[in-house]
Amino acid sequence: MSSKKEERYQTLLPQIESLVKGEPDLVANLSNIAAALKQTFNFLWVGFYLVKENELVLGPFQGPIACTRIALGKGVCGTSWKERRTILVPNVDEFPGHIACSSDSKSEIVLPAFKNDEVFLVLDVDSDRLNDFDETDVLHLGQLMKVIGKIA
Ligand code: SME
Repeated sequence: MSSKKEERYQTLLPQIESLVKGEPDLVANLSNIAAALKQTFNFLWVGFYLVKENELVLGPFQGPIACTRIALGKGVCGTSWKERRTILVPNVDEFPGHIACSSDSKSEIVLPAFKNDEVFLVLDVDSDRLNDFDETDVLHLGQLMKVIGKIA
């Protein structure tokens, strides 16, 4: 899967860059980015939580209904926000405080995006398979977060 995954990211990222080019609305862009990720990888859940008044609030996503608010330091998303870093969770049952929006979720990756050196949103991707994310995802989704930082 990894080389196929690599190829898919290499095709997807330029597509996303041209998709958001010329569109100033952040919600419109995040919506299309979530759809593009879902369409390419068929992730169980992919979406954004935006920092609003010192909480994470659910933003554009694709997948089952999810929890709407997450506090700083809570769950994988709140931890990524607090610690300002990408978190790869091979098995959600082994992450203390993991917030289970869907019992089908088995592994997860969360990445922060920065504006003026502050985390302003996180991208959360969930899989129904254990150990489904690796350094390929960290690298390419990390590049995506830089693109998002520039359009914010
Ligand atoms: N699992 C996340 C919560 C969000 S849902 O998975 C969409 C967490 O622990 O932060």
